[in-house]
Amino acid sequence: MTTSQPKKTLTLKKKSSDATEASTSGRPGHGPRKRSGARARLVAQRELTRRKTDTFDTFEAELADAPTVDTSADTARPAKPEWSPAAERAPTRRRPATDHPSQHAATSGVVRRPRSDARNSPSRIRVAETFRVFTPCPHGLEEALAAELNALGFDDAVADRAGCRLTTDWSGILRINLYSRLATRVLVQVAHRPVNTENDILDLAYNTPWERWFGAEQTLRVDTSAIRSPMQSLQYCNLRAKDGICDRLRDKEGQRPDIDTVRPDARVHLFLDETSATLYLDTSGESLFKRGWRLDKGEAPIRENLAAGLLALSGWDPNAPLLDPFCGSGTIIIEAAWIALGVPAGIWRPFAFERLRNHDDRHWKDIKAEARARIATRLDTPLVGCDLNPAAIDAAKQNLDRAWLTPDTIRFEVADARNVLPPADHGWLVTNPPYGERLEDSDDDLWWQWSQNLKQNYSNWHVNIISSDLELPQKLRLKPRRRIPLHNGALDCRLFVFDMVKESYRREKK
Ligand SMILES: C[S@@+](CC[C@H](N)C(=O)[O-])C[C@H]1O[C@@H](n2cnc3c(N)ncnc32)[C@H](O)[C@@H]1O
Repeated sequence: MTTSQPKKTLTLKKKSSDATEASTSGRPGHGPRKRSGARARLVAQRELTRRKTDTFDTFEAELADAPTVDTSADTARPAKPEWSPAAERAPTRRRPATDHPSQHAATSGVVRRPRSDARNSPSRIRVAETFRVFTPCPHGLEEALAAELNALGFDDAVADRAGCRLTTDWSGILRINLYSRLATRVLVQVAHRPVNTENDILDLAYNTPWERWFGAEQTLRVDTSAIRSPMQSLQYCNLRAKDGICDRLRDKEGQRPDIDTVRPDARVHLFLDETSATLYLDTSGESLFKRGWRLDKGEAPIRENLAAGLLALSGWDPNAPLLDPFCGSGTIIIEAAWIALGVPAGIWRPFAFERLRNHDDRHWKDIKAEARARIATRLDTPLVGCDLNPAAIDAAKQNLDRAWLTPDTIRFEVADARNVLPPADHGWLVTNPPYGERLEDSDDDLWWQWSQNLKQNYSNWHVNIISSDLELPQKLRLKPRRRIPLHNGALDCRLFVFDMVKESYRREKK
C-alpha cells in the first residue's frame, strides 16, 4: 500500500430537477367539516374531555425503535444534489432559525398551548411554536447523540434511554432530520396521558388533532411499542389507536385515511409504558440511517448511524487519516467522507414531513440550500478501506459513486487485514470485523495474526473495533482503554478502544 494521497474532490455535476422532492410533496390540505346534531355534541364532549386530560408535562423516557418498512424507494437512486462549492465545511454549532411564518399549526403535544380559537384549523399558523421531540438512536449512542444535537444548537437535548429528548420549533425538527447522523428518526410528541384500558388509547387518539397534520388525502400507518405495559395485546392497542385517529378524521372531515403499511404518507407511533400512552407523529418516515446511497449488497453491512456513532465515539478527527481494514461495502469510510466534507446526512433522502399537510416546501428548500452551501468540495484526509473479498470492494466502490463522491475520495483496495500497512504514521482505525455466527472457529487465528500486524506497524494509531465477541481483547492480546456497550441491531456489542503505543507491544512480549 502506498502512502501518497490523491487529490479528493466531490462530484459537482448539476442535475435538472429534484425528483425526490417532486415525488414527495403533499397535496393541499382539506378544511375541517362542520358538524351538527348528536355527532357534534359527542365531538364537543370529547374535545372537552381532551382539554381536561391532555397534560403533556412528562416525556416518556423509553421508546423502542419501531420496526421500519423497506420500500422500493430505498433502492432508487436519489436525485443528484445541487451543491455549490463552499469554503466552509461541516456546520458548526448554530441555533436553529425561528419558525418560518407558514409553519405547521399547533398540536396538542406542543409546549406552548395554541389559542383555543385556532383549534382544529389545519392551516392556522403559529410562529415560534415549540414541540416536544424524541429522537431514538441505537442503544449506546444516546450520549453521543445528545452531544451531536447540542453541537447543532439544540441546547436542551438530553440523553434518555435509546434516544434523546429536546424541545424545538418546526424548523429545528426539519434540521435534525437533515443533519443528525446518529438519530434513527425524529418523533414529535402529540399526545400523552395515563391509560388503564385499551379504550383510553382510543380516546387519546380520538382527541388528538390529527387534521392539523394529515387527513384522508394521506395514507396512514400506526406502530406500537411498549416497555412494561400491562396491556394484554399490543396489536389491539395499535388497532385502538388507529381507530381513534380514523374515527376523528371521519367525524371532522367526512373521510378517513387509508391504511398503508408499506409506504405510508403519515406515520404515528404509540408508545406504552406501565401507566401511560404517548402518541408521536413521525417526521422522518424511513429510518434516518437510510441516507439514500446504499446498494443492497455486502456481507452484514453496518447501519449508517451506527457507523457515524463509532466514528463519534472513537474521537476521530475528520482531518486525520482513517482506515477500515474490514470495510465490507464501505459504510464506515463513506460516512467518514461525508463527515469530513460536511455533507448533511439527509441531503438526498425524502422525509415524512414533506408529505404532511401544510408542508412549506420553500422553507425546506431554503434550509437545504443553506446546508449545501457549507459542503466542502475538496477532501485531503486520507481515507482507506480494505477487504479480503473483491465483491465487497466492488460494492464499496459502487456505494462511493452512489454517495456522489469521486473515486479518488476514498482508496478502496482488496487486501488482507493481516498484511495491510497503515496509510500514515498516525491516525484512526475504525472497523466492524466479522463476528458472531459468520466467523468460523478456524478463523480464530485471524485475530492473532492481525494483532501481530497492529502491534508491529500501528504505533500512534487509535484502534477502535466493534464486536459482539467479548473475548476479542484476549484473542488480540491487547488491553482496551475503553469497552463501550453498543447494540448493532439485536447484537449486544462493545466498541473496544485500543491506543497502539509502542509500550503495549513491549508489555505483551514480556
Ligand atoms: C461485518 S463485515 C463488514 C461490513 C462493513 N462494515 C459494511 O458496512 O459493509 C466484515 C468484512 O470483513 C471481511 N474480511 C474477513 N476476513 C478478512 C481479512 N482477513 N481481511 C480483510 N477483510 C476481511 C469480510 O469480507 C467482510 O466484508
